[in-house]
Amino acid sequence: MEYSAAPAGQAESPKRKTPVGVDPTVPSVARVYDFLLGGKDNFAVDREFAAKLIELTPGGIDVGLHNRAALGRAVRHMVNQGIDQFIDLGAGLPTVQNTHEVAQSVNPKAKVVYVDNDPMVLVHGRALLAENGNTTVITADLCDPDEVLNSPDLRALIDFDRPVGLLMVAVLHHLDDSQRPGELVARYRDAVPSGSLVFITHFIDGGAETADIERVMLGDLGSGRFRSFDEVRGFFAGMELLEPGVVYNPLWRPDPDDVVPEPMSFAGKIIAGGLGRKP
Ligand SMILES: C[S@@+](CC[C@H](N)C(=O)[O-])C[C@H]1O[C@@H](n2cnc3c(N)ncnc32)[C@H](O)[C@@H]1O
Repeated sequence: MEYSAAPAGQAESPKRKTPVGVDPTVPSVARVYDFLLGGKDNFAVDREFAAKLIELTPGGIDVGLHNRAALGRAVRHMVNQGIDQFIDLGAGLPTVQNTHEVAQSVNPKAKVVYVDNDPMVLVHGRALLAENGNTTVITADLCDPDEVLNSPDLRALIDFDRPVGLLMVAVLHHLDDSQRPGELVARYRDAVPSGSLVFITHFIDGGAETADIERVMLGDLGSGRFRSFDEVRGFFAGMELLEPGVVYNPLWRPDPDDVVPEPMSFAGKIIAGGLGRKP
């Protein structure tokens, strides 16, 4: 579904009506990320902002691809460990190799609940999932765990008596410290049973190298905190952090055919991920 073919800097001429609640004049995290992954569900304002990011990030287009690839490997790993139900918090706009596609390619009965606070995700998710009874998408703020966890749509698919796969992939860095991301992770961790697996990826503070990216993100997008490895490891409190720990995305359990940049590229060092197991 394409909203506009207008190049960055030019006026929008929507081919379809802008969905209710979507503001095409302000960049959104979901739409900027969609553009970086090669999607079409974005506006000129998102593409302009993405261009700014790419200028500051050598090889920047790879950041999203590395992240998306790590998400896919993590989901496959989790299904192979017996997880057959997922809550994907901050799911993003549907793109290639979405969580349900990866999970259901290994276990066709795997269930996936997508959660995002961007209304455009609901519009596109519903269209994609129209015929997939094992997958749903809800619009909610992950900062309101009660609303998310008590959602009837979520409860219809997720059995909280069996291990759950929780995904918080490239989303916690969109929360400010004042939103207490660590406490939120703990709330979700506490809601799922023993044996549940939690995959998190997050922007990594690279000192002066990432300071400008953080400044532009916080200024123009309103979010994008770069945290240290220690801070990201801290999100796994109360869980067993599984091998290889929190590492740059390309280093997180690469597939045999993956080419891992050596030395690690700048784009490869923007986001790191880790997998925790609730004891
Ligand atoms: C960079 S995208 C990541 C998408 C996907 N998880 C991935 O890694 O490929 C971050 C997503 O988180 C969503 N998001 C940001 N803050 C959120 C919040 N407080 N609650 C729910 N979703 C949020 C954004 O709308 C966006 O779709």
